[in-house]
Amino acid sequence: MLRRQCDAGDTLLPRLRLLSRTTAMRIDVLTLFPAMFAGPLDESIIQRARAEGLLDVAIHNLRDYTHDRHRTVDDKPFGGGPGMLLKPEPIFEAVETLAGDRARVILLTPAGRTFRQALARELAREAHLLLICGSYEGVDERVRQALVDDELSIGDYVLTNGALPAMVVIDAVARLLPGVLGDDESSRDESFSHGLLEYPQYTRPAEFRGMKVPEVLLSGNHAETEKWRREEATKKTKERRPDLAGGKWGDGVVG
Ligand SMILES: C[S@@+](CC[C@H](N)C(=O)[O-])C[C@H]1O[C@@H](n2cnc3c(N)ncnc32)[C@H](O)[C@@H]1O
Repeated sequence: MLRRQCDAGDTLLPRLRLLSRTTAMRIDVLTLFPAMFAGPLDESIIQRARAEGLLDVAIHNLRDYTHDRHRTVDDKPFGGGPGMLLKPEPIFEAVETLAGDRARVILLTPAGRTFRQALARELAREAHLLLICGSYEGVDERVRQALVDDELSIGDYVLTNGALPAMVVIDAVARLLPGVLGDDESSRDESFSHGLLEYPQYTRPAEFRGMKVPEVLLSGNHAETEKWRREEATKKTKERRPDLAGGKWGDGVVG
């Protein structure tokens, strides 16, 4: 269903004025749970990006790459131990069918390197990603050895399968594609873009339940506003995330 909607969306004119790439980014996902993707990919900015032909996502059921009557995708681990592992054969066949020449093949696994904004930016420059979602106790090691370019973890916790991590990666990457956010500036000055967390933000009313918006933001003085934001972002980052690179506002992308 996702694929079909995406094809329909491809016929709409992309917002050419914002596009620096000539074709949509393609993301293929290999999963045992295709239905999990329906909500997140069919709402909000991601849905719009797909409808406008900026992002082309296809979800594939791993069981479609099996050849036995029971559509078997898993088996017991050699050497014993709890649970089941995803077998290599269906994953190899799927990746060999879907990857083409250019896909960057990514395995979602708690043992991978941590997914961060800098990596989201790097992935947003790729033409084609293929995300492999593990299930049960994970995947046969030979998948990692022979098929995979990157192994990514979305954090130090264990989820039931790779569908949510894949959706996190898709969401973080898609919003960085040219033309996807309404205002392309909005992904430039946000948390992590400069190795800093974002400064505090306010909207109307200027006073709410006795809490006032800082004067400088009401002053209309752009230089002072920028200085205040830089200082607040630096202070917040030092307090909350001293591990971040701690760049200066305007340094460019750090982390
Ligand atoms: C229950 S987990 C397997 C955990 C594995 N036995 C281990 O100890 O590392 C099943 C699948 O969920 C996905 N997964 C779970 N947590 C994840 C995380 N933090 N980041 C990325 N993928 C994750 C992976 O695809 C994994 O193969």
